[in-house]
Amino acid sequence: MSALVAPSILSADFNHLGKDIEMINRSEADLIHFDVMDGVFVPNISFGLPVIQHVNKIAQKPLDVHLMIVNPDHFIEPFFKAGASILTVHYEACPHLHRTIQLIKSFGMEASVSLNPHTPVAVLEDIIEDLDMVLLMSVNPGFGGQQFIQNTYKKVSQLRALIDSKNPNCKIEIDGGVNFETGKKLIDAGANVLVAGSFVFNDKNPEEIISGLKAL
Ligand code: DX5
Ligand code: ZN
Repeated sequence: MSALVAPSILSADFNHLGKDIEMINRSEADLIHFDVMDGVFVPNISFGLPVIQHVNKIAQKPLDVHLMIVNPDHFIEPFFKAGASILTVHYEACPHLHRTIQLIKSFGMEASVSLNPHTPVAVLEDIIEDLDMVLLMSVNPGFGGQQFIQNTYKKVSQLRALIDSKNPNCKIEIDGGVNFETGKKLIDAGANVLVAGSFVFNDKNPEEIISGLKAL
């Protein structure tokens, strides 16, 4: 069963972003992944609403927006207006996660929660039935091109069991250090959406890499 593939533009060429988006449009990619970082929740600043607004004008794939920010409630409507189809907030940044998820869904977006590597899957026990997707971080959030954290495979299996028992349509997205080797093992463990940034954009033929991830 092939996974959905979501290239992360964090590793794209920002001097020619339109060219990279056109490549994604032509490719077998299913989503375009945006890693929004505020320099507070994570020790890095990436990009924000203007980038998503402009990409939305030329994108032919749904926008999968990953908010690595504090106080995400303040930005749910703006990212909806910018064109987000899936909106991911971090469990660790949401003291009222149930309300946040309801707010995301009230705009018609798919609601997703991300867990940092140290956060156990069990914390989702009482919210899993409200989710369209769970994003498991397989690196510490903040930078592309990092080493894959091996404990992620165990978390995927745990999450797959929780989802199969309570919300079988909920997707499992993995973000960080995804390549052909980790991607295959992640799918075997139960993941069905793969985010890849550096593995795609550091290659001379990114379209081929995307097809290779689709073929896993
Ligand atoms: C981390 C980012 C990265 C990015 C993918 O905060 O979320 O995981 O999406 O990075 P690569 O695929 O380069 O590890
Ligand atoms: Zn991400």
